[in-house]
Amino acid sequence: MATTDRGHFGSRLGFILAAAGSAVGLGNIWKFPYETGENGGGFFVLVYLVCVVLIGFPVMVAEILVGRRAQRSPVGAFGRLRGEESAWRVLGWLGVITGFIILSYYSVVAGWSMNYALMSVVGVFTDRAPDEISAMFTTLYGSWGINVFWHLLFMGMVVGIVIGGVKKGIEAWARLLMPALFVLLTFLVAYSFILPGHADGLAFVFKPNLDKVSEKTFFEGLGTAFFSLSLGMGALLTYGSYLRKDDDVPKSAMIITGLDTLVAFMACMIMFPVIFSYGMEATQGPGLVFVSMPVAFSQMPGGIALAIFFFLLLFFAALTSGISLLEVVTSTVVDQLGWSRRKATLWTGGLIALFGLASAISGTEWFSSNWQVLFGGKNFFDTIDYLASNWFLPLGGLFMSVFVGWVMPRDAVQDEFRSGSTWGGLFSVWYFFLRFVCPVGIALVFLYKVGALNFLLTK
Ligand code: PHE
Repeated sequence: MATTDRGHFGSRLGFILAAAGSAVGLGNIWKFPYETGENGGGFFVLVYLVCVVLIGFPVMVAEILVGRRAQRSPVGAFGRLRGEESAWRVLGWLGVITGFIILSYYSVVAGWSMNYALMSVVGVFTDRAPDEISAMFTTLYGSWGINVFWHLLFMGMVVGIVIGGVKKGIEAWARLLMPALFVLLTFLVAYSFILPGHADGLAFVFKPNLDKVSEKTFFEGLGTAFFSLSLGMGALLTYGSYLRKDDDVPKSAMIITGLDTLVAFMACMIMFPVIFSYGMEATQGPGLVFVSMPVAFSQMPGGIALAIFFFLLLFFAALTSGISLLEVVTSTVVDQLGWSRRKATLWTGGLIALFGLASAISGTEWFSSNWQVLFGGKNFFDTIDYLASNWFLPLGGLFMSVFVGWVMPRDAVQDEFRSGSTWGGLFSVWYFFLRFVCPVGIALVFLYKVGALNFLLTK
């Protein structure tokens, strides 16, 4: 096992930035807003928030603790804590597979943001009506050549950075670009106050509306929370494995969760006022950010410059998340097979890029219509996104909470929780949530989803 070339973060802030860089990404700015739109607004946002606080945060602490204790990527971590023959290693592999799948289509969406940055530079959004801007996304979605190009470019960049290793590759980027993204979002939130649809937009996001509530609301709310927090597949476990014993895990997890949630909410506070101001569809799905934001920019003084900036930063946010996804797969290969980081990165990145071609072409007419026949109206891209974020991630989180809450010895967990933390006094509260609230909560959402709870609800 290649324990010796395992890096550590250069500073305490380095971990927080890198982990926040993993968490904050397309999940917050692309996925959360469109899921909110599709699921009817306020009540979904509330479900998301409850999932983040009651389930996401405790699971995040657990994941980071396991990584730090074992100093290994997921598969090796369970091997080290439970023995090399342990069935818990399967949970590590589930995470690796999930990371593989997510990165393969994540890269396509990241490609859209690069394409939109370029479109902004060229000035295609100037003086366009909302309909025209909306048609541009449809065209892009169906153009396989353009999607393949950006997808491969993005994967190439992620591979290049991951080869550089933790300190040089990941920390340095996050340090610069995360704050920039935050400043731009703050400005856009302030700008949204002058839009005519501001009040309606905010009411949509914050006023719980029970019309559209179903098992789907809970299922997708939970999945979106896991996706956006980077939980359930070992990304934060792997980053935790680069931590030292004197790092404060609970406090770091709190900061990461807080920042991630803030960015997700800011994204909605920008997009829905725009959508209500220009009479657009809240339910349009994955194109939402790529349609609503250009419409806003096209109407704003200085909008072109801001559009370039926005899509570039969205791309960078995607890059820091993409890095963490690949890092899980790559570090597993390094830890398990003893390959060099370079060789492992090139192979895993290459395979993910190859698999991702299917997502890159999934908006084309022939592929999408044939696939949809098989999978109930979803194209290939939608199918794997749905499976990975709504089933695999929460399932990983369920087992993670069982592992840390019920399988690891309480002493070891307590020791790891307290090590380096000023929040040691909160151990019992956290432990209770992890043992009971998290597994039961996730299990209930799954049972409700598959219809096993209907007998309770119909009476
Ligand atoms: N959290 C990232 C985002 O919001 C996506 C991600 C999911 C990254 C799972 C790592 C693991 O975009």
